[in-house]
Amino acid sequence: MEALHAVFGHPVAHSLSPRIHAAFGRQAGIALRYEAIDVEPAGFAAALAAFAARGGSGANVTLPLKEAAFALCTEASERARRAGAVNTLVRGEDGAWRGDNTDGSGLVRDLTQRHGLDLRERRTLLLGAGGAARGVAPALLDAGIGELTIANRTSARADALADALGDPARVHVRYLDDLAAQGEFDLVVNATSATRGGELPALPMALVGPRSVAVDLSYGDAAIPFLAWARAAGCRQSVDGLGMLVEQAAESFRIWHGVRPETDAIHAELSNRAPALVTAD
Ligand code: ATR
Repeated sequence: MEALHAVFGHPVAHSLSPRIHAAFGRQAGIALRYEAIDVEPAGFAAALAAFAARGGSGANVTLPLKEAAFALCTEASERARRAGAVNTLVRGEDGAWRGDNTDGSGLVRDLTQRHGLDLRERRTLLLGAGGAARGVAPALLDAGIGELTIANRTSARADALADALGDPARVHVRYLDDLAAQGEFDLVVNATSATRGGELPALPMALVGPRSVAVDLSYGDAAIPFLAWARAAGCRQSVDGLGMLVEQAAESFRIWHGVRPETDAIHAELSNRAPALVTAD
């Protein structure tokens, strides 16, 4: 029987996930149907119940529903608990939803395997402390980065993320306005949603140098302002979030179907399309 899966989000019409999962299904010889379901947080629980009633057995969850998905899971993986957010749902035999979060491992896999970066001891700056930042910070720490500096417009939120990470020896919080005094970072990760709206927080050029790598968790048009800044500031390499998207999808696919698909072909296919997308699911 055809497996029924979906991505839930708002907006979700432009999500690449249906296309990615269809390609994975063809590759693995697994018959699946993968839908995009647009729903706001208030309607999410009901929409998920209706999906389950139609036979839905697994789902991805994107903005702005990842925290809501975490809240309605009866069980969540350790990495989902550390992120406080869920991007992958699996329906158990008893009908209850189990949550996981593959965003952070997707990012780390993209950086290390596709881009050949060694993350160990990298002095890292994380811009933002919202859901996207929470999703990737634990995996970056687990990958062995050195110091992790979190800078966010609202400093209380950066403090809360640092507390949740529970690694005071490596994790520090700095004001966005004080970044000029922090010296050069090896890795700068943009996890703010600011650039999705076309705004880039003022960033000092001194943050990066010829050894630095800049990463935007968004892709397409949304990644342009930050990655253009990074190139102008002299970064060695700039990476958008398309690879992370494909890798988190592959990890979700593995959780649902037990096989990890090969990702290079779909990544190459999607890299060639016109940059016109704004969401990061
Ligand atoms: P997401 O799930 O995409 O992370 P979010 O949880 O709403 O969305 O978080 C958005 C992040 O982008 C936050 O870090 C937010 O900063 P605040 O915590 O101060 O709101 C950041 N952000 C959004 N717009 C911004 C802007 N114009 N300048 C700087 N940071 C911005």
